[in-house]
Amino acid sequence: SIERTFAIIKPNAVQNGNIGEIITAIEKDGFTIRGLRLTRLTPAICQGFYAEHVGKGFYPELENFMTESPVVLLCLERENAIARWREVMGATDPAKAAEGTLRKKFGESMGRNATHGSDSPASAAREVAYFFNAFDLA
Ligand code: CMP
Repeated sequence: SIERTFAIIKPNAVQNGNIGEIITAIEKDGFTIRGLRLTRLTPAICQGFYAEHVGKGFYPELENFMTESPVVLLCLERENAIARWREVMGATDPAKAAEGTLRKKFGESMGRNATHGSDSPASAAREVAYFFNAFDLA
């Protein structure tokens, strides 16, 4: 069925000038962009977004990275959007990501892995609503 998912183009990909190539890949794969915003996360906003990871060993590194420079936030719509976006991104660890995936191309490490995607319908609903209000979803 037609679903929406939430995506982030992470600070390393923005720094490296990869916004355009990642959005091109999104469009070529048949996603419709329903929300799109450039912003810089604060520590508090990052903690709310990654609430399930706060307290884990890697969280301080994750927060430092995600707040170091701007990110692009996206709401993406497509048939089977949640699973398909995860396929397009590839594995969380770029070293394990399949050839041709975004994390393989643009990821630098487990942390600096270029993109984020929601992992379930419940996460997608929460994450879209966390960053976008109804007026910003076309
Ligand atoms: P993401 O899909 O944004 O969700 C949580 C992020 O935490 C994940 O991508 C990784 O970038 C990051 N992450 C997960 N495990 C580790 C780890 N062991 N060390 C550093 N970052 C991690």
